Amino acid sequence: STPAESPAARDPRLAESQFLRAARGEPVTHTPVWFMRQAGRSLPEYLAIREGVGMLEACMDPALVVEITLQPVRRYGVDAAIFFSDIVLPLKAVGVDLDIVPGVGPVVASPVQTLADVEAIPELEPDHVGFITQAVRGLVAELGGTPLIGFAGAPFTVASYLVEGGPSKEHARTKAMMFGAPEVWEALMAKIARISAAYLEVQVSAGASAVQLFDSWAGALTPGDYERLVRPHSAMVLERAGALGVPRIHFGVGTANLLDQMGEAGADVVGVDWRTPLERAIPLVGERAVQGNLDPTLVFAPTEVMTARAAEVIEAGRVARGHVFNLGHGVIPSTNPDQLARLTEFVQGYPLA
Ligand code: CP3
Repeated sequence: STPAESPAARDPRLAESQFLRAARGEPVTHTPVWFMRQAGRSLPEYLAIREGVGMLEACMDPALVVEITLQPVRRYGVDAAIFFSDIVLPLKAVGVDLDIVPGVGPVVASPVQTLADVEAIPELEPDHVGFITQAVRGLVAELGGTPLIGFAGAPFTVASYLVEGGPSKEHARTKAMMFGAPEVWEALMAKIARISAAYLEVQVSAGASAVQLFDSWAGALTPGDYERLVRPHSAMVLERAGALGVPRIHFGVGTANLLDQMGEAGADVVGVDWRTPLERAIPLVGERAVQGNLDPTLVFAPTEVMTARAAEVIEAGRVARGHVFNLGHGVIPSTNPDQLARLTEFVQGYPLA
């Protein structure tokens, strides 16, 4: 595929985007900030618009996707929008029988066990996700100078939902396949990698200015297993995304042991969860930017406690190649949006000079 037009060609204001500048390791006037799961149940306007509408239904309705994605941008004035969707949407789009169950997460009707099960999953064609193209185009038109982050699930994290059939703590079935049926594992990981890469290509072609690959559950792996059995597949996705000319963020939870490898997989920005201080993360990621990593529960502390901790994160991030402020994982649904508004204002107003 050909590289997408550069973000600045889409909208000249994107050239000034502090988020894109930080992601590329360029100097910034303020530390850019956005929040994983910034759209969602913490917002009353989200709860209102989702009334009686299923999660998958919402994700497949371009007008709803545009509106829900814009809600936190309007409310907080964050430096980036993240496309409202879910990591299992491309699987749903190719025909995998799954649902997103409220309070539970993705549930797959017939978990993947055999090579035949893997081969039965179709490849993703742009025609499967016309609603995504439409939503991204609509969004980019509305967002103007605010960049849109497209995203996909990394092969390991998506495989876990496909093999377990739902959310899992131990990922025991997934690892049983990884250790016990290597040819099924390789085929599954390669299939998901192609689907995730194609999904990112659709989003960037339609106007997304950056991508984030979510390997949320990679922290369950040892460095050795990550290296042999997982990283090559994530690297394939990141390589195809890199060919599109947009910055690539690579994020996982509990990945203190894997940050160097997740960077080397082909990230421009390594997402750090809140358990790992940036002081420890930055030397591991070398000449890459970092994203993170305020503990998401700090929004429940008094505002001045929250902002004092945010200042520590900003100060720690100053020695990185670039720093994008975020929480160390998604916004907790019971978060008071007013706290995130104050946090955004604090980070954007924090003097870097
Ligand atoms: O604002 C954003 O960050 C964009 C939207 C987004 C969602 N899911 C919306 C969503 C993104 C980027 C995701 C990615 C995602 N989905 C990940 C990786 C990010 C992470 O949190 O580590 C994972 C592991 C999933 C799988 C998934 N989908 C989970 C664990 C859940 C939560 C289950 C629950 O109800 O607590 C979902 C459902 C989901 N995805 C919701 C939202 C807003 C909640 C559904 C609802 O509002 O009804």
